[in-house]
Amino acid sequence: MSGSGKSLIGLWLYRTGEQWALKDSVSKKQLPAECSSSSQESHNSVIFSLKNQVGGLARALQVFQDLGINVLHIESRRSGRRESEYEILVDVECDNRRMEQLMTLLRREVAAINLATFEQGSDLPPPPTPLSATASFDFDDIPWFPRKISDLDRAQNVLMYGTELDADHPGFKDPVYRKRRETFANIAHSYKYGQSIPRVQYTEEEIKTWGTVFRELHKLYILHACTEYLENWPELVKYCGYREDNIPQLQDLNTFLKRKTGFQLRPVAGYLSPRDFLSGLAFRVFHCTQYIRHSSDPYYTPEPDCCHELLGHMPLLANPSFAQFSQELGLTSLGAADDDIEKLATLYFFTVEFGLCKQDDTLKVYGAGLLSSVAELKHALAAEDKIKRFDPEVTCHEECIITSYQNHYYYTDSFEEATEKMREFASTIKRPFGVRYNPYTQSVEVLSNAKKIAALVSELRGDLCIVSNALKKIHEQDETVDVEGIANMLHCDLHIDTEKEKD
Ligand SMILES: [Fe+2]
Repeated sequence: MSGSGKSLIGLWLYRTGEQWALKDSVSKKQLPAECSSSSQESHNSVIFSLKNQVGGLARALQVFQDLGINVLHIESRRSGRRESEYEILVDVECDNRRMEQLMTLLRREVAAINLATFEQGSDLPPPPTPLSATASFDFDDIPWFPRKISDLDRAQNVLMYGTELDADHPGFKDPVYRKRRETFANIAHSYKYGQSIPRVQYTEEEIKTWGTVFRELHKLYILHACTEYLENWPELVKYCGYREDNIPQLQDLNTFLKRKTGFQLRPVAGYLSPRDFLSGLAFRVFHCTQYIRHSSDPYYTPEPDCCHELLGHMPLLANPSFAQFSQELGLTSLGAADDDIEKLATLYFFTVEFGLCKQDDTLKVYGAGLLSSVAELKHALAAEDKIKRFDPEVTCHEECIITSYQNHYYYTDSFEEATEKMREFASTIKRPFGVRYNPYTQSVEVLSNAKKIAALVSELRGDLCIVSNALKKIHEQDETVDVEGIANMLHCDLHIDTEKEKD
């Protein structure tokens, strides 16, 4: 087993839970997604359609039984979405917390449903609709994905280590540690978009573990971390309390990152499904653990912990190019098929977690998995024959190894190079539309027809005018400015190959 920070985002195959809907029989305001703290029992109707497989209904109903939810009524009825299909309606009575658990577990067992049908009559204001997003979303077979940042409240499938620990986890036999993990899990489970991340009073033992890891890794950063990582370190010390004797608070990092790159943090209880984790990146939201590894072995953790997140990820999320790369990876994942999600998770793994870059002819590290693992960081840099140039088409087939060192590591010359290559790869993803993030409304615009794209182009023209005028003025003062080169950057991205359609 290698050192710490070895396990990163959940790489287990995503189970196609797809989309479900929850219909509140009284008021939309009582939906658990909108209200986190009430423990009052309420009457709700859950409506779902089944996957086309034997035993689907039994498995779905088992979820209600497993959670001890009081079922008042069950019926099947013709689907409002597809004539040939049937839906199951289950009336239940339970509190909001169990309702949330039900939704999470049920998603894994049921097939897609038309959410819009059940949102009619909602007394909430509609989400903002910029010009480019006015028409409806009309793809039946696309997996559900968050459309606005608050939708991330519904994309929280924790696959492992939520509150349970495996028998081989260093903290498995320690009741105090397990109890502590419950506290962190509760913070993550009850967190909703827009709330402050609760501050944690770390214990002396926890701070000691952090200090041990911090000390050892910091020596290596000076030698091996990439420039972009190191340049943010002084500000993290100044504004977020990066010190040996202090575990930084997620809320402070949240404020810091928002100002630097617009990234935000969201507490998470354990491994999130790759689909949910990547969808967070699309909104510049990074899911972040808050607990720390067990003190018995400070250099080992079988799961991401705050040492991995705070030391490995945070300094680079404050870098604009890296933030852009991460967000584009997330946007590419929205609505992608399961096999494409697997490829994107692999590409994330070999870049954000285990990536290298060449700076002044020397290999430097930017992957958080390496930056939080003393042993593997040293191993990766010494294994010259295992280091290859990043090529998404090849890298996406590489095996992600959780229990040992990687077979290969991949490098680029810059984050821009990685971003360009990922953009090319993104065009191969099977998805009949494009997506664009609107930072003003914090929502994703689905570009699914010419009308929407034309509306977006119209919006973008304002920015292009600003660029054009600025270039003109700069060129008037300095004739050496490469106006043509900058203009070509725009043209080459606009090249659209329509030959295929003509054939
Ligand atoms: Fe990570």
